[in-house]
Amino acid sequence: MEDSRIALPIGTTLDRFIKKKQDEFQFATGELSQLLRDIALAGKVVNREINKAGLINIVGAIGSQNIQGEEQQKLDVLANIRFIRALTKGGEASVIISEEDEEFTDLQNNGKYMIAIDPLDGSSNIDVNVSIGTIFSIYRRVTPPGSSVTLDDVLQPGREQVAAGYLLYGSSTMLVYTTGHGVNGFTYEPSLGEYFLSHPNMEIPRDGKVYSINDGSYHSFPPAIRTYIENCREQGFSARYIGSLVADFHRNLLKGGVYMYPSTAKDPKGKLRLMYECNALAFLIEQAGGSASTGQERILDLQPEDLHQRVPLIIGSTNMVEAVEELFRGQEG
Ligand code: AHG
Ligand code: MN
Ligand code: MN
Repeated sequence: MEDSRIALPIGTTLDRFIKKKQDEFQFATGELSQLLRDIALAGKVVNREINKAGLINIVGAIGSQNIQGEEQQKLDVLANIRFIRALTKGGEASVIISEEDEEFTDLQNNGKYMIAIDPLDGSSNIDVNVSIGTIFSIYRRVTPPGSSVTLDDVLQPGREQVAAGYLLYGSSTMLVYTTGHGVNGFTYEPSLGEYFLSHPNMEIPRDGKVYSINDGSYHSFPPAIRTYIENCREQGFSARYIGSLVADFHRNLLKGGVYMYPSTAKDPKGKLRLMYECNALAFLIEQAGGSASTGQERILDLQPEDLHQRVPLIIGSTNMVEAVEELFRGQEG
């Protein structure tokens, strides 16, 4: 049943929103709600660390320990520690995949859920004070809780996600997520320490006039992508590329547009990771009325073969994604 039945007003706190939505599901045990709260809380902690990023060298110069007496860490490592700690405590998740860890982590508990996370996305932008993010996917385990985690638990196609979302640490910090019943965005109010519903039932326009791609690799893109870029230029579309996937995605979600990271000479399978970047955003975009594709296949239908697998990503307004797919089809024959 659609959980958008009860429209909650702008300004509803995240906690209240999660609680109300949970009440709409019979038999919901509250574990998924708790995971979302844990992620939101870790997001607050990471947000605080990120806001101090410009001071790290200054702090480092007078002693490389932070307030808890820990060594100063690179922010992506620190974000990984914060999220894994938050997700480990409650026992709802029994396995975590992270960009920062080569293997999956079997938490050896009775948790029902599997989490895939990119703790800090766009990390090359930290040092230059540009928006960065966190991306997460939540799946149900396929083997019984309590047994050892297997590859079948972790290598699930994106269509099996039960929830996904991202935090964007931008001019405001936002949490945007879906549980498969539309997409809602919350803005963090730091002085109150609360997230408030600011973007209910987000929908991406079916068409857009913005394309986001790293143009520096133009000469090694597949011909379909080069043709699409030329079409965009001819139509006078705007090019916008921040270099933080979450930030580029968020702008296109609000305004309409397409983000593309195709195969290149350097990254023949694309650069972005299926398990903790592409699947979450693909689930969100479809829930918001958009599309996500490799150019040839729907992202959510891909069967993962490896935790850190890379795939080409074309994501955003449906008409734009379909135009790219059409060009790929034209080149097959
Ligand atoms: P991460 O910081 O998690 O490694 O991800 C970086 C990704 C993504 O955020 C961004 O869109 C892309 O790399 C940028 O790559 P290019 O610099 O090759 O354009
Ligand atoms: Mn990333
Ligand atoms: Mn990352």
